[in-house]
Amino acid sequence: MKFGKPVILTLTILALSTQTYAAQNAEALFDAKCAMCHTKTRPADMSKVTAPALMGVMRHVKMTYPKKEDAIKFMVDYVLEPSKEKAICMPEKMKRFGLMPSQKGNVTKEELEVITIWMFDNFPPKGFRGMRQQN
Ligand code: HEC
Repeated sequence: MKFGKPVILTLTILALSTQTYAAQNAEALFDAKCAMCHTKTRPADMSKVTAPALMGVMRHVKMTYPKKEDAIKFMVDYVLEPSKEKAICMPEKMKRFGLMPSQKGNVTKEELEVITIWMFDNFPPKGFRGMRQQN
């Protein structure tokens, strides 16, 4: 069977978009599964915030788990089975926001590995020293 031009064109577009998808996969997954609670930028209005911002989360994760593989392991486990005993965020955060609800059913272990590697590689941004610090 010979492919006609439209079929080849469709296949090319599909292949290209799959590539782009792979590159943006991690951030898109974060946006879809985590960003409704964890903002990627410094929140403009702190009173509307329902969870620690991503830069704050990663700062604290790295303080406790500086090694990438330990941090990934901790986060993948925590997101599926959060508990006060495991938590590394500041006690005042826990008091203010409450325990993170388990994301079981919302995200898979495989997706979490992709997401948390991206989180570790990109956050906190360079020069970040704390939420209260303005640059
Ligand atoms: C419904 C809101 C909500 C969603 C959705 C959510 N989180 Fe959280 N997350 C929280 C809150 C609240 C905390 C702070 C309390 C805590 O640590 O349990 C938190 C804390 C964390 C922490 C720090 C853990 C610690 O020890 O303190 C990590 C890491 C984290 N979230 C990752 C994620 C990832 C990855 C996703 C997406 C798959 C996600 N969260 C989705 C609300 C959320």
